[in-house]
Amino acid sequence: MKTLIKQLPKAELHIHIEGSLEPELMFKLAQRNHIKLPFNSVEEAKQAYQFNDLQSFLNIYYQGANVLCCEEDFYDLTWHYLQKAKEQNICHTEIFFDPQTHTNRKVPFTVIITGISEALKAGKERLGISSHLILCFLRDLSVESAFETLNNAIKHSDKIKAIGLDSAEKNNPPSKFKPVFDQARAEGFLTVAHAGEEGEADYIWQAINLLKVSRIDHGVRCIDDPQLVNYLAEKQIPLTVCPLSNVKLKVFNSLEEHNLKLLLEQGLCITINSDDPAYFGGYLNENFMAIAEALNLTENDIKKMINNSFKASFLDSAEKEKLYIQ
Ligand code: ADE
Ligand code: ZN
Repeated sequence: MKTLIKQLPKAELHIHIEGSLEPELMFKLAQRNHIKLPFNSVEEAKQAYQFNDLQSFLNIYYQGANVLCCEEDFYDLTWHYLQKAKEQNICHTEIFFDPQTHTNRKVPFTVIITGISEALKAGKERLGISSHLILCFLRDLSVESAFETLNNAIKHSDKIKAIGLDSAEKNNPPSKFKPVFDQARAEGFLTVAHAGEEGEADYIWQAINLLKVSRIDHGVRCIDDPQLVNYLAEKQIPLTVCPLSNVKLKVFNSLEEHNLKLLLEQGLCITINSDDPAYFGGYLNENFMAIAEALNLTENDIKKMINNSFKASFLDSAEKEKLYIQ
């Protein structure tokens, strides 16, 4: 099973580029940019990666992102992830980035987008990995700040495929962002949103009905609402599920208790993803291997979820047809 998982080509649809910042690179960039880190060593950083919930993770994740200052830093970060993706036989990836984390520290939007996009271009040319970029609004910040960020995105719409919503979910419902998502869609962006990770099932309904999302990121709390589960199955609205993340952030107590097999059996379009691999102990293949073992998944389950990753992607239908596996 492990060999099969490693060998099969696959797409990743839920990866925060800032969450792929390995401590080794964090230390290198901190030194390059003369930034003091709250850890004395790579080992100390790794030991600090113990989380009680989403917020306790976000505090450390945003702190880590402080080392990203110039175009070269964003390039190096993205290139690192792409090399890892190549090793894992990821042939297509749809990457989130959180511009407000950086523009709030006075890093210009063009620096962020140029660094990431140049690396993605090199990823296509040198590694054969296709990609799309998804800009996420931080939902714990204001709608005004999201509108400002959207204005920046519009100036770079050739490089950005979709708009997403991430950060602290509780008390920050999708409804708060309806006006800015309306404008984003009018500008031609597709939309996705984190919903039902820690937040209630109703946030998933809001993301579908108000933000008109193409996919739900996480979405595992849909299980609390049988009507919603039926709707997700009927409409084949994909969930980008992140098993190791869910256990690290205590959404489930263990991988064995994860509900993705149940959802798969109910006909939902479930995909496997790594979320923030540098913080959660594994990239895409490690997520597949861990959940396959914990839930006794079959070869067919694995292949189904890999084909779901192509089906749920923002590639066009001709590109998808070339990727489906038997
Ligand atoms: N930003 C990075 N990872 C996230 C997650 N799992 N949930 C919400 N926001 C995030
Ligand atoms: Zn995420």
